Amino acid sequence: MTETTLRVSKIKDGTVIDHITSGHALDVAKILGITGRTGGIVTIAMNVPSKKLGVKDVVKVEGRELKSVEVDKIALLAPHATINIIRDYRVVEKQRVKLPSVIGGIVKCANPACISNSHEPVQPRFYVECEEPLLLKCHYCSHIMEKQDVFKQF
Ligand code: CTP
Ligand code: ZN
Repeated sequence: MTETTLRVSKIKDGTVIDHITSGHALDVAKILGITGRTGGIVTIAMNVPSKKLGVKDVVKVEGRELKSVEVDKIALLAPHATINIIRDYRVVEKQRVKLPSVIGGIVKCANPACISNSHEPVQPRFYVECEEPLLLKCHYCSHIMEKQDVFKQF
């Protein structure tokens, strides 16, 4: 599709999360703590035509840059996302999110009997079996976590 008009306007300062897997814009907003009741200007676009993905979602957050834990969570739900830092209308930094092959720290095992859920000092640890659709395998009990199981925790 040739875009003759800009669907959503460019922002002056902030972060554009682009190439979000279609259907996940509101999940990304939730990860960023966007409730619609506080904070600055946020623009959410869904099912926008994309050369790379067919359709994509986009979230633009003005006046703010993301924390690394937020970027790591976005990577779990939208492994093709691009994080663009905008300063004075220009893209000054473009980073593709990256899913490490081992996930620690941001996800808990959904198996209540897993040793990582006991009071032992055992950090949760998962292997990425599949990026899209997401499948994480627990290092301790081999329990498989899907995207919904992971997102419920955010
Ligand atoms: N953008 C914005 N405000 C700006 C500059 C860029 O909202 N002041 C948005 C663009 O609309 C786009 C994203 O930030 O969604 C990345 O911008 P740019 O790198 O210019 O676009 P592309 O080259 O199409 O990006 P890519 O190569 O990552 O597809
Ligand atoms: Zn486990």
